[in-house]
Amino acid sequence: MHTKHLWIDGKWVETQRYEPIISPFSGEKIAMIAQASVEDAEKAIVSAQNAFGQFKKVPAHKRSEILDKFVSLLYQRKEEAAKIIANEAAKPIKIARSEIDRTIQTYRFSAEEAKRMYGERIPMDAAVGGEERVGFTMRFPIGVISAITPFNFPFNLVAHKVGPAIAAGNTIVLKPAESTPLSGLFLGELFQEAGLPDGVLNIITGLGPELGPTLTAHPYVKKITFTGSPEVGKQIIGNAGFRKVTLELGSNSALIIDDGIDIEKIIKRIIEGAFSNVGQVCISIQRIYVHRSLYKKFLEFMIHQTRNLVTGSPLDENTEVTAVISKKSIDRIALWLAEAVELGANLEYGGTIEGQVMTPAILTNVPHQAKIIQQEVFGPVVSILPFDHLEEAVGLINDSRFGLQAGVYTNDVNHAFYCINHLETGGVLINDIPTFRLDHMPYGGIKDSGIGREGVKYAINEMTIEKFVSFHWNTL
Ligand code: SIN
Repeated sequence: MHTKHLWIDGKWVETQRYEPIISPFSGEKIAMIAQASVEDAEKAIVSAQNAFGQFKKVPAHKRSEILDKFVSLLYQRKEEAAKIIANEAAKPIKIARSEIDRTIQTYRFSAEEAKRMYGERIPMDAAVGGEERVGFTMRFPIGVISAITPFNFPFNLVAHKVGPAIAAGNTIVLKPAESTPLSGLFLGELFQEAGLPDGVLNIITGLGPELGPTLTAHPYVKKITFTGSPEVGKQIIGNAGFRKVTLELGSNSALIIDDGIDIEKIIKRIIEGAFSNVGQVCISIQRIYVHRSLYKKFLEFMIHQTRNLVTGSPLDENTEVTAVISKKSIDRIALWLAEAVELGANLEYGGTIEGQVMTPAILTNVPHQAKIIQQEVFGPVVSILPFDHLEEAVGLINDSRFGLQAGVYTNDVNHAFYCINHLETGGVLINDIPTFRLDHMPYGGIKDSGIGREGVKYAINEMTIEKFVSFHWNTL
């Protein structure tokens, strides 16, 4: 079993305490991981602050070149990277490989966007007193960024923070999720080989509650970018003061299937949206509102397709369903499932548990107030509910603390626009599942789903200071 240290200022740095990480599927110890102390976190922040003085002067073409080089290095080690995800996050290897493909794309977008940090020209003479002036904005890197990332996409959600930060000329302290530190630590040496100056990317592993206050409130930290739970998001807001903050939080994402839809055509995609990565995706389909005319047939299709999913080790090529991340997580999901059934829901399929693996569960007749509807399940559970009128489905979707993305299958353009106009979510996907995401599109929520947007260009906007310049030329 190997031991992993902290990556600070371009070197591996030892610390006092190490803890094992455990495979969620097999229960085996995978590696011993450094548990950074507050002093280590401060060291990483100081290293990032020192590096910023030089890195902010590195031109865009050079930052882009470093990111491009990193892309080719990661490309050469794709399979190794996918296996890290499969081992530590129990993500089925096929999906882990597609995460690495997405990661490569996210860094590639970052390399491209580094060259496109445009400002805006403001027509100053539109206002009396603005004559003989040119107004424009310029974008400057913000400085040290604390990036705190989750376990569910341990490479690509790191890429969504590290890629744009480097593209914009910032320096970073990355703290990957406690359960998936190896994916984060993999980046240090690879970026060094790509030519990233020491100290620009620092990676510390350890416990969120111990390191969070330093990472979010240290005076050198100018921006925090976090993906995780709304509860932690609220603490971050409390610590951050006037710092810029991007929060990608949870959701109980919903899908509407309108009258007249050919469900045979979309069923596979829906299964993927509900059960891929055993539902541990912020935009996983948790609620499906189906027009009553299709409800019965749709339920039969769902059960049939779910039955065919292959359960097994994340390292097996055919596996589609495997362990959730932790015992705590499987216990909570089981509790919420039992609560829903107690409240009158019907468990139509699945829900049996072995170790940390749950058979994907399909529920009907679920009361709207049940946790399985209202909270973020982050597990392989979907509720299927009938509706008669579109307004009713939209109302139920909006009656939620979350608002990340919603999907709508409809053949009626007026229904599509009704949903676009009325759904209270950061994204509306027409004729697609809410789980659809490309890495350059704006992505983020409203309500308890978060603040700010990711998607490389949008993340860069949030990681830069927009400075306004008024240039008065009539001074001769
Ligand atoms: C998330 O779970 O927040 C990200 C989903 C994705 O990138 O596909």
